Amino acid sequence: MLPLVIAHRGASGYRPEHTLASYRLAIALGADYVEPDLVSTRDGVLVARHENEIGGTTDVAARPEYADRLTTKVVDGRILTGWFVEDFTLAELKTLRAVERVPELRPRNTRYDGRYDVPTFDEILALVAEESHRLGRPIGVYPETKHPSYFADQGLALEEPLLDALARHEMAGPDAPVFLQSFEAGNLRWLRARTALPLVQLVSADGRVDRVTATGLRRVASYADAVGVAKDLVLPRDPRTGALAEATPLVADAHAVGLDVHVWTLRDEHDSIEETQAFLDAGVDGLFTDHPDTTLEACRLHASSVLVRAAR
Ligand code: G3P
Ligand code: CA
Repeated sequence: MLPLVIAHRGASGYRPEHTLASYRLAIALGADYVEPDLVSTRDGVLVARHENEIGGTTDVAARPEYADRLTTKVVDGRILTGWFVEDFTLAELKTLRAVERVPELRPRNTRYDGRYDVPTFDEILALVAEESHRLGRPIGVYPETKHPSYFADQGLALEEPLLDALARHEMAGPDAPVFLQSFEAGNLRWLRARTALPLVQLVSADGRVDRVTATGLRRVASYADAVGVAKDLVLPRDPRTGALAEATPLVADAHAVGLDVHVWTLRDEHDSIEETQAFLDAGVDGLFTDHPDTTLEACRLHASSVLVRAAR
C-alpha cells in the first residue's frame, strides 16, 4: 500500500506555511492530508501557526499598532521574545499577513509575503470539505496541538475546541480522515478517553526518544495509533558523509505493537528521490513533506519499480 503523503504546514516549500494558499496548493498537488499546527488566540479561537510566537511568520514586527505587544515569555522551558498569538484576539490577528519563514532558503516564496492572512482551523476544515467535494476524493486533516500544557495553563486549552471544530465539520467520526498529533502524552491520553480518531505520539530526535524503544513503543500503543518521528530516528545519517545509514529497529518494533510510523519532514532542499524511497524500503506508513508533488512522485516511482522487480 502507498504511504500517506502529509503536506507539512501545507505545501510549505512553495507558499508561506500555514496559509489557505499553502493548503490549497498541497491538495492540488495530490497530498492525502494537510497538516495544520494549532495554537489559540486570546479569545479562544484555534488558528494555524507553527508556534505561538508569530514574529517569524507574520508581518507583526512591522505593525506599529502592535509594538507594545512585544514581550518575553517562557514557553515549554524556552525563553522567547516576540509577539504571541495568545495576546491577540482573532479580529486583531486577522489584520496581520503571513510571510515566508525561511526567505534565505526559499526566496521564491517571498513573492507571496503580505498576501494571506492567518487561517482559523474552521476555515481550514471548510477548505478541506470544499476541495474533497470538488475533487471527489477524501482529503484528510492532521492537526497538531502545539504547546498544549502551556495553553492549558493560560486558560486556553486546545483539545475541546479541536474536537468541537471537527464535530462541527462532521470530521469527528471514527472513519473520518483525521489524525490528531502531539509531542505531549498527557493531552493524547485526555483525547483517547474522548475520541476514537487515531492519535499520533510525536517524537523528536533530541526529545523523548525513550518513547521509541521497544518498551516505550509498547507504552505508547496503550493510548496512540501511530508515532510521528523525526526521520533520523528511522534512518540516521552518517555524521561525516551525510549518507543515510542502516535503518534502526523502530519501524519493526512499532509495527510489532500495532503502531503505524509516520516520519517528518522531507524537503526538496535536503532529501533526494532515492532518500525518500529509502524510507519506503524501511516500511514507513506516512511521510510528512514540504513538497508533496516530489514525495508523491518518489512514491509512484518506488511502487512501479517494486512491480517491475516482482514481475521478474
Ligand atoms: O508534526 C510533525 C512535525 O511537523 C513536527 O514538527 O516542528 O514541524 O511541527 P514541527
Ligand atoms: Ca507539526
